[in-house]
Amino acid sequence: METKRYNESELKEAAQALRDGSLVAFPTETVYGLGANALLPDSVAKVFTVKGRPQDNPLIIHVASFDQVKEYVDNFHPATAKIVENFWPGPLTMIFEIKKNKLPSVVTGGLSTAAFRMPDNKKTLEVIRQAGVPLVGPSANTSGKPSPTTADHVYHDLHGKITGIIEDGATRIGVESTVIDLSNPDAVPMILRPGAVTKEQLEEVVGEVSVDKHLVKESETPKAPGMKYKHYSPDTKVLMVHDNDWADAIQWAKNKGFRTGVIAGPKIAEETRFDTAAVYMFHDDSIEAAAKGLFAGLRGLDEPLLGLDLIFVQVFPNEGLGVAYMNRLKKAAAQNYFEK
Ligand code: TXA
Ligand code: MG
Repeated sequence: METKRYNESELKEAAQALRDGSLVAFPTETVYGLGANALLPDSVAKVFTVKGRPQDNPLIIHVASFDQVKEYVDNFHPATAKIVENFWPGPLTMIFEIKKNKLPSVVTGGLSTAAFRMPDNKKTLEVIRQAGVPLVGPSANTSGKPSPTTADHVYHDLHGKITGIIEDGATRIGVESTVIDLSNPDAVPMILRPGAVTKEQLEEVVGEVSVDKHLVKESETPKAPGMKYKHYSPDTKVLMVHDNDWADAIQWAKNKGFRTGVIAGPKIAEETRFDTAAVYMFHDDSIEAAAKGLFAGLRGLDEPLLGLDLIFVQVFPNEGLGVAYMNRLKKAAAQNYFEK
């Protein structure tokens, strides 16, 4: 199958294809999603096949308005209205108990709950409206690869396997949405996956918010099935490097005779670039730039052609957007830091 790249004037065609059951990847502000009509079980099943995704990992349902969610949910958590008002459209996914038999079980992995998100992307909102149905949208990568932050990443992983990709630029945020569990109206809202909407931001709006134990203690089983998978295992070894350890890390790699890559902001990239084989530099030294560039950096430096033995990556404090960045980076690095 030839994978089409839809431009701005072809959104109608993309919406029609989705409605009819084809798979079309769409841009969002976080990462690109692999879209399918959430009401057609066969199309949703294809999403799992194409990605190589474990069947027990439920999908996020993408909507163009909160009203669309009401068709599937009638028991809302009291914090819902405020969260919607403050964070939708945006990088926040909410989990609710759903009405029986309204959604195919292949979407929810057989759970009695489902995840909903209204993405902040004009083209995609337009396409969901025109399709007239909600769209499932897991990240549009092969399972086990970093989530795609450009249309080219999607094309690289899925061309020939999906009908099309809606073209847009690089995604603004670069890490997947915050997932918050609101399925029990009597319970404190719980973050299951950290993202660009932080715990502090949520607490400002709805009061106390808790965090899934697994995010604090690795050995606990995560409540979001997808969080138990190691998201990305590059073929090249990845080590996280604390700010004060860069000189030692570079020297150690040199002594070992390693071909080393660095993923970091301009400050560290400048200091290390003469002693390394390849550098992926974030746009600036902020955590926002780092979150936006992390997946592209990992994809870029893991290219076999580069023949790297090792990739060093900058760490950020575990606060604000840094919580989401470190959550993804730790998975890529299998928890390993460079140690003196
Ligand atoms: O930013 C994003 O959320 C992107 C863009 C494309 O919207 N999508 C995305 O989807 O990251 P995916 O499928 O890669 O991640 C969905 C996460 C998984 O960890 C899954 O286990 C969890 O949400 N999830 C979905 N439904 C759930 C449910 N009913 N209960 C608990 N966790 C759920
Ligand atoms: Mg994913």
